[in-house]
Amino acid sequence: MRSLQVRLKSTPSGVPMPEHFSLDHADLPALASGQVLVEVLDLSLDPYMRGQISGRHMSGRVDPGMLMNGETVVRVLESKADGVAEGLVATARAGWQSHAVLDAATLVPIGFAGLPPSLALGVLGMPGLTAFAGVNRLLDIRPGDTLVVSAAAGPVGSMVGQLAKIKGARVVGIAGGADKCAWVIGSAGFDACVDYKAAPLRDGLDAACPVKTPGLGGIDAYFDNVGGDVLQAAMERLNLGARVALCGLMEQYNADVPPPGPNPAFTIKARAHVHGLVVYDHEDLRARMLREVAPWIRGGAIAWKEDVAHGLEQAPAAFERLMRGQNFGKMVVKVAAS
Ligand SMILES: NC(=O)c1ccc[n+]([C@@H]2O[C@H](COP(=O)([O-])OP(=O)(O)OC[C@H]3O[C@@H](n4cnc5c(N)ncnc54)[C@H](OP(=O)(O)O)[C@@H]3O)[C@@H](O)[C@H]2O)c1
Repeated sequence: MRSLQVRLKSTPSGVPMPEHFSLDHADLPALASGQVLVEVLDLSLDPYMRGQISGRHMSGRVDPGMLMNGETVVRVLESKADGVAEGLVATARAGWQSHAVLDAATLVPIGFAGLPPSLALGVLGMPGLTAFAGVNRLLDIRPGDTLVVSAAAGPVGSMVGQLAKIKGARVVGIAGGADKCAWVIGSAGFDACVDYKAAPLRDGLDAACPVKTPGLGGIDAYFDNVGGDVLQAAMERLNLGARVALCGLMEQYNADVPPPGPNPAFTIKARAHVHGLVVYDHEDLRARMLREVAPWIRGGAIAWKEDVAHGLEQAPAAFERLMRGQNFGKMVVKVAAS
C-alpha cells in the first residue's frame, strides 16, 4: 500500500507556505501482528504545528524531511490486531498522510455517538478539552462575571465562551472580521464580539466591558489565545480579583525572534500561577510577621542593612541615589539623633 504524505521540506521563516512542504507517495510497511492499516478520514491542523516545525513546541519537533505530525480520524482497512475490526473509525496520530500502518493500541475510540467523528479533533477533542479545562479549572467562572476570550471564533475560543455562558457569565469575544463576529454572537450566543479589524480593539473592549471597579476594568475572566497587544489590551481592563488563563500565542508563532517583554510562553510552559500582590490586602499578617521575624533578626538568623543619609537636607540626593539604584540597603534619612 502507498500513502500520500506531506513532509516538511524546509523550516519556514515567517508564515509557513506550500513551498515549505513536499507531497510524495511512500510505501507503507507490511502489517505486523498487532497492527492495523488505516485510511485517514480527517486530519486536524492546529497552531501548535507551527511551533513543532520551528523546534519550539513542548510536544516535539518536526525537522525538514520528516512527515508532518497530526491527529486524525481514521478508518481501519485491514487489521492484524485482536479485537480491532475492519471498518472501525477511531482517532489516531497518523499525521499528514492518506494511509498509515499503526499499532492498534494507539487508536483511541471516538468517545461519542450521533455526531460527526471529526468533532473528535475539535470541540470534542483537544481544543475542546483546552477550553473545558480553562473554564472549569483555571478561571473559576461565577454568575455575573464578564469573561473575554480572544480568537473567539475558533474551536478553543468559541468553546470557552459557550461553556462560560452556561456557567452564568456575560461573554465577550474578540475576533477578526464581521463574519466571525456575526457567528460568535448569532450562533455561539456570545453577548458581544469585538471586531479588532473594524475598529480599535481598546475602544471595542471599553464598550463591551463597562468598568466594574473604579480605577480598574470590567473584565473578571480573560482567556488569551493570542498574546501580544491583544493580551495587553485585556490586561489593562482587568477587574479586581480577575482570573487570567494564558493559553496561546497566535501573535508570535510565526516570529523568528520572540517579541520583547515578559513572554507569556514561559508562564504557559511552566503552568505557573502568577498572582497580583498588593500589600494593603495582607495587613492581617502584620502581627504574625512581627512575632516570627523579630526574634530571627535579634538572633542573627536574618541579616539587615541600611543605607543612611544624615540630615533632612540630604533627602533629595538620597532619593536620587535610590531612584538611580545606587543605594545599598534600606534607604533611610537620619533626620535627628535618636
Ligand atoms: N495551551 C494549550 O494547551 C493549547 C491547546 C490548544 C490550543 N492552544 C492555543 O489556543 C489558540 C487557539 O487555537 P485554535 O485551535 O482554537 O485556533 P483558531 O482559533 O481556529 O485559529 C487561530 C486564530 O487566532 C486568531 N489570531 C489572532 N491574532 C493572530 C495572528 N497574529 N496571526 C494568526 N492568527 C491570529 C485568528 O482569529 P481572529 O482573526 O478571529 O483573531 C485565527 O483564526 C492557539 O493560540 C493555540 O495555540 C493552546
